[in-house]
Amino acid sequence: MTDISDEAPRVDPSTEIERRAIGWIAPFSQALHLERARDWVVRLDPDASLELRLAAVTHDIERMFPGGPVFNRATGRWDDPDYLYAHGRRSAEVVGVWVHENSDAADGLARAELRRLITLHEFGGLEGADLLQAADSLSFLETLQDVVRSWVITGECGIGQARAKHQYMVDRIRVPEASRLAVPLLKAAMASLDDLESVEPDDAIASGLAGTSRRTS
Ligand SMILES: [Fe+2]
Repeated sequence: MTDISDEAPRVDPSTEIERRAIGWIAPFSQALHLERARDWVVRLDPDASLELRLAAVTHDIERMFPGGPVFNRATGRWDDPDYLYAHGRRSAEVVGVWVHENSDAADGLARAELRRLITLHEFGGLEGADLLQAADSLSFLETLQDVVRSWVITGECGIGQARAKHQYMVDRIRVPEASRLAVPLLKAAMASLDDLESVEPDDAIASGLAGTSRRTS
């Protein structure tokens, strides 16, 4: 049974810039993942800075806009630094433009710090970046199980790669408390793939979808 303290309560926005950010990301298909990343970052650090909260709720937003880096899920490495850095950097740039357009609500926001955190969200780092990466992992396991299932169903990758993605999102965590919190989430994420064990790559190849380069999560 999950202890309530192991969950991440929803955290209402406490600033105008956060309210606007939540509205901005709402059309994104993975908006819930971004909102939950913010909840998890506050769960890990109740005193999380505005920059950290805002980075969490926007960190993947470049995927809402065409023209970003692509990744082959069937053959790529989940820790591919070229793809992951390009993704983080592009999100930071997109968010920087959005903050500029919302300058009237950005008083006191440390824009360079926001950019640093978003750019580092896949890797972790100093002063909050590890927390953001951990929160991203926890939210990924919690909210994107169906997305990972869809990769297998459409043949974008095999079930081994899908399981490896979930495992990678746990293994990369550098915050001990988050590693502990990830245990039940990983178990559930892995179980969500169990009924797909019989999906053969040949089925996907027959549908013409296997090996297609897609933008990843
Ligand atoms: Fe993410």
